[in-house]
Amino acid sequence: MNILNLFKSKKSYMCPLLNNNLHFTSRNTLEPCCSANIGPALVSNLSEKDSIKEFIKAKKHYIEMFKSGKIPAACKDCVHIAEYKKQSDFRINKITLNHYTQCNCACIYCTQGNRSFEKIKEDENKPVLYDVLKFINELYDNNLIDREKLYIDFQGGNISCLKNHQEIIDTFLNRGVGTIYIPTNNIVYMPVIEKLLASKKGELCTALDSGCSETYLKIKQVDKFDKSVENLKKYIEKAGADSIIIKYIIVNGFNDNMEEIVKFMNLMLEIGIKIIVVDIDYRDIIDKSYTIPKHYYDIVNYVKKTCIEHNMDFGMPPYTQRVLERGFSIK
Ligand SMILES: C[S@@+](CC[C@H](N)C(=O)[O-])C[C@H]1O[C@@H](n2cnc3c(N)ncnc32)[C@H](O)[C@@H]1O
Ligand code: SF4
Ligand code: SF4
Repeated sequence: MNILNLFKSKKSYMCPLLNNNLHFTSRNTLEPCCSANIGPALVSNLSEKDSIKEFIKAKKHYIEMFKSGKIPAACKDCVHIAEYKKQSDFRINKITLNHYTQCNCACIYCTQGNRSFEKIKEDENKPVLYDVLKFINELYDNNLIDREKLYIDFQGGNISCLKNHQEIIDTFLNRGVGTIYIPTNNIVYMPVIEKLLASKKGELCTALDSGCSETYLKIKQVDKFDKSVENLKKYIEKAGADSIIIKYIIVNGFNDNMEEIVKFMNLMLEIGIKIIVVDIDYRDIIDKSYTIPKHYYDIVNYVKKTCIEHNMDFGMPPYTQRVLERGFSIK
């Protein structure tokens, strides 16, 4: 084999998330991604650190590793691995804020630990793990942020329970941000969300997961279906529906039936929702190695069809889409 062929046969990789994303976790760590895998480069015990310089150094090391064709063990089989493309901008364009778990409901599927009424109470006065603003300001001060593109994904517990959420949002608005995405259970009406929606800087996403209060109560464990719907109507009235996304997470044995999805879609049409996202409970993906029941496809297809008929946008997270494309097995 001549030397040219040798070069051709060597594969190079990259991970777009590693290149430009940051994830502040509730495990007291900073990670490059928020995927099912944990990811390679991480700085632990953020609460004991003043700087994220160490993380940036580790990130460069892993970028080089991918480029040289080596896949870090923690990234094995990750769906985000891509073929290498030359890239020179490694500034952060997406930050996921997952540094707190406090919430005012207890969804049975919640990835933020086994939630219960006791946990809701216990969490109420629990401080956040670390000061996320210290690190965000460091990134801005060192020109490590793409201020125009920056997409903030407020994960965590529920934003209404995060005491300094206003200060965090103001920092982004003052220092430069593209879009602030706020997933929330919508149990509490928040004027700051109304303002973000009205100024086209924000997106709101609520996983309603049901078409009636009985199913909602079983899934979320709080009787707040009517309140959440009322708040949605209020946001639409004040700021329009263009940036409001309503999600239906299919939860095995709770809402995975046609009756519920029909009720849900009818309600969405009635209140003027324009964007629907269907997801599947991550526990199905993580625990059951992609064994997706056949009737999930009927639910997804019904939502798709209704969205087309009524000129609504239909979406599905890319990860879930790939899992569904891999096929199903009947339980
Ligand atoms: C942990 S929540 C935090 C934000 C907010 N409390 C909420 O529920 O919208 C972040 C997102 O993860 C989603 N999520 C949590 N557990 C999930 C699961 N098991 N399967 C699918 N999505 C899940 C929620 O619907 C939400 O959109
Ligand atoms: S390849 Fe996957 S696990 Fe690894 S950094 Fe990228 S997104 Fe995270
Ligand atoms: S509202 Fe969000 S954080 Fe709260 S329990 Fe549900 S998924 Fe978890």
